[in-house]
Amino acid sequence: MSAVYPKLPKVNDVAIESKFLSTDEHSVLLSWAEDEFSHGRLKTNPSGPFRYFNRYEKGDSVPDVFWEVRQRTISNFSITDYEDEPKFRCFLGCNTEGGFVGRHTDSAPPDKHHIRMNIMVSKPLRGGIPFVNGKTIDIEERDMWCFFPAIMPHASSPVLGNRNRFVLSIGILVPRNSVP
Ligand SMILES: [Fe+2]
Repeated sequence: MSAVYPKLPKVNDVAIESKFLSTDEHSVLLSWAEDEFSHGRLKTNPSGPFRYFNRYEKGDSVPDVFWEVRQRTISNFSITDYEDEPKFRCFLGCNTEGGFVGRHTDSAPPDKHHIRMNIMVSKPLRGGIPFVNGKTIDIEERDMWCFFPAIMPHASSPVLGNRNRFVLSIGILVPRNSVP
């Protein structure tokens, strides 16, 4: 009998945690993200222009805060039985001016739910607004939003202005029957 995690959003809903990152965590992650991009460590995302990303796993050179925050997103929902989502895992996504995420749904194995916990590390001056199931997700830098990307179509509006959009995305799989 699997555990059930009542703190998770419903499969057709989005949970938002305001100010999920402390100002110190935000400052470390923002400097790191800008460094990753300026040193060319983010790859071109073939899904669309002006988009870059990199995936990270244990052993990669990232600030300790990265793994602390990743663990805290999971414990925030009191999730104990999970595995890394194997396709995208934890990634840093960057959209520069003109970049946007086209509407799509992601995959999940039939016996699992795919959960994404996204953190806005850098919010553009304008645009870069996430949409989940056609609904605007009203978030600021440091906020986290959590949803089921294999169930809910999602997208973002084009980035406007010269402040890049950096999102830290943490993906896990949980047993299907652990979601209320
Ligand atoms: Fe997605």
